[in-house]
Order: sequence, then C-alpha cells, then structure tokens
Amino acid sequence: MSQAVAARPMRDLITWPQEGFTRVPLQVFADAEIYAWEQDLIFRGPTWSFLGLEVEIPEAGDYITTFVGDSPIIVVRTAEGGINALVNRCVHKGSIICYEPKGKRERAHNFVCPYHNWIYDFEGTLKTIAFEKGIQGKGGMPEDFDKSKHRLIRLRVETIRGLVFGTFSAATPPLRDYLGPVMVEHIERTLHGQPKILGRYSQFMHNNWKLYVENSRDNYHPSLLHAFFSTFKLNRLSAEGGTRQDDKSWHHITFTKRYTDAGDQAYDSGMIRAMKTDYGLKDPSLIDQWMEYDDQITNSIQSIFPGFVLQQILNSIGTRQIITRGIDKCELVWTLIGFGEDTEEQTRVRVKQSNLVGPAGLVSMEDGAIGNFVQQGIKGDLDNVAVIEMGGRGVGGMPTRATETSVRGFWKVYRELMGV
Ligand code: FES
Ligand SMILES: [Fe+2]
Repeated sequence: MSQAVAARPMRDLITWPQEGFTRVPLQVFADAEIYAWEQDLIFRGPTWSFLGLEVEIPEAGDYITTFVGDSPIIVVRTAEGGINALVNRCVHKGSIICYEPKGKRERAHNFVCPYHNWIYDFEGTLKTIAFEKGIQGKGGMPEDFDKSKHRLIRLRVETIRGLVFGTFSAATPPLRDYLGPVMVEHIERTLHGQPKILGRYSQFMHNNWKLYVENSRDNYHPSLLHAFFSTFKLNRLSAEGGTRQDDKSWHHITFTKRYTDAGDQAYDSGMIRAMKTDYGLKDPSLIDQWMEYDDQITNSIQSIFPGFVLQQILNSIGTRQIITRGIDKCELVWTLIGFGEDTEEQTRVRVKQSNLVGPAGLVSMEDGAIGNFVQQGIKGDLDNVAVIEMGGRGVGGMPTRATETSVRGFWKVYRELMGV
C-alpha cells in the first residue's frame, strides 16, 4: 500500500450509515483509496482466494498463472506432487516472471524472469543471477549480496475436492474451518466426481468487483432480470428454494428446486417484467436436465468470500473467479466442469447448458450489463446509499429467496475486515 493511503486509516475515508448492513455507501464502488485498502485488508488479508483446479496442473512443473485481487500469482505442481503458489513478481525490479496463462517447466530451476534472467525454483527460491560475478572480474553483484534473503512471496495453499485456494495471511484459519461445515458439505456435494475441464472463458465487466459479488449473492434478481429463467420456469421465486450460509455469514448458497414450482400469479400478472408470454423454445432440449443430486436442487450458486462462486445451473457445473481490475472493472473467469464418469451424452448436455448461462448466453450477459448500469447510475451521486431491506434487516439463512439476506451478509464481513 502506498504511504499516502497508509497515512489515512480506512475508517476516516467513510462513515457507514447507522442503519448498518441495510445501507451501502455508493462511494465504496468508486473510490481509489478504498480500492487500495481492499487489496490489503481483504485480498492480502485473512481470506482464502480461489486459484484454480488441481486437474489443471497434473504433473510436476505444470503451472498456471492467476491473480489474488491485483497480485499476480503462479500456481505450480512440485516434483513431490504438492502445489505451490508464488507471487509472480521478480524480486529484482518487479517484472512479471511468467506471462502465459499456463505452461510447463521441465527443470526445478526454471522460472526465468524475462527482463534480466534471474532464475527461481518451484519454491520461489532465487537460484541464479545473470552475471552475478560480472564479466572478466568486472562488475557483478557485491560480494556480500545474499540471494537467500530475496525470494518470491509464497502463499499458503490448501485444496478441497480439487479446488485450489491460497492465502497471504498466517492468520487465516485452515480452509475447512474458514468455509465452515455447511459450505464444505455443499462443495463436496456439487463436485461429486473426478473433475474434468470442459471449457473456459473470461468475461470482462465494466463495474467494481463488489457489484458482481453482490449480484452472485442476490437471489432476488434472477427471475426478474433474467426473463429467460422465469419464462421457461427454470428459476422462479415460487419454486422451493432458499439461502444457506456459514455461522459467520461470510459465505452463502442460494438454491432452487425447479420442479416444485407451484406457479405464482405475480409472474402472470404483467406487474413484473418477466411476465407470462406465449414464447416457447423451438428446441426444448436446451433446458433438458437429468436429476443429478439427491437433494433435488436444480440451481445453486455458492459464494465464498471474497471472490469465488461455485455454480450448478441445471447440469452446468462451473467455477467463477472474480479478479479485480481497477476501481470500475473486474474480470470473471469461468471454468466449466464435468466428471470423469460422465457419459458422452451428459457431457454434451453440460456444454449445451453452459452456453445458455455463459457471457454469450442469456444470463451472464445480463449480469455483466446490469453491473455497468449500476456503475453508470451511481456516478453523480456518491454521497447516496443503496437500500437493502428485502427479507428484513438481518443476515441469517432463510427458507425463501425473496430476500437480500446474503447481500447483507457480504457487507457484514466487508465491514469486519475493512474496519468500517
Ligand atoms: S526484473 Fe526480473 S531480472 Fe530484472
Ligand atoms: Fe444474475
């Protein structure tokens, strides 16, 4: 963090309204100093961030590059079969070392910085400095320069069901304690087999990262903004569903049981945009699904603080990773998952349904647009607040989705970590 920012405590930047979690100062979506504090207190703070899938780096030397907040990260499989996460920033001048999304290094001493060729091993140890002894006895590094005092920053790494998480902080509890039993059980339920990657894409969003986090936890909007969902009865508030969360209200699951939809006059009344129509699908196989889970849940969106989402929409299973890209931009990286034991037909269904949901489909395109609508809408009025009172004022789990309890839960943890 810059000295200018560090000189001014976060709590002096913002006065949180006395109504608490039901109000959010719009300033938090548009302020450079707040953004810088978030990098320190949230992304480099006591939180676990999703880094990728174990299956992406099956063999020693396989690596992927990713981000935790703004920090670039290399995730590499070691010769012993472990996983290391290293900050992808050379200790010499700060250049990115690995600049490709993924790759393989054959030898253990082989992360070579492109700028002056300093070389690191898979533990992040600085092994070699080009021209360390100079040329013909001239130049080179000082005699007493100690390479062992300069190394890549290494994150703590833990995995659950093939998902890899990393944290900068020694204070973060072990991953399973951080998630809590409700979240652990749901991850183990959703990822019920040996994952295989079916596809990947990224969606660049023109809004602050927190607007997407709110959106993923907001079970009030899907049947309204995503008219497709309600028109074809994929996700209506009249179907059985609800929200679950961990004890501290840091992480949330919103879920629906599609086949319990008893119908609701509200959707047929013309009072809401997602009204009854004569529309039908020419190819209904787009929304065919097989009942994959004993709990009969057909849609579930699980949000792990700060920026990870595990999705099940019909049989489309996937991870979404939110990467901060500045005050008013973020990137959403999607990885679509199937399982080793899937039949060819099941794989085909998963891929087809994923096209419905992804950014070129009908759902995420709308989420991307709406985040930008909010970012545009708040611009001239940063002294104002958002009002979040649907379903009451608390943060507990609820047996309905006509609630913003999970959004309030996000602001609860945000305020805890940011000290506001
Ligand atoms: S910046 Fe990496 S070797 Fe110089
Ligand atoms: Fe949405």
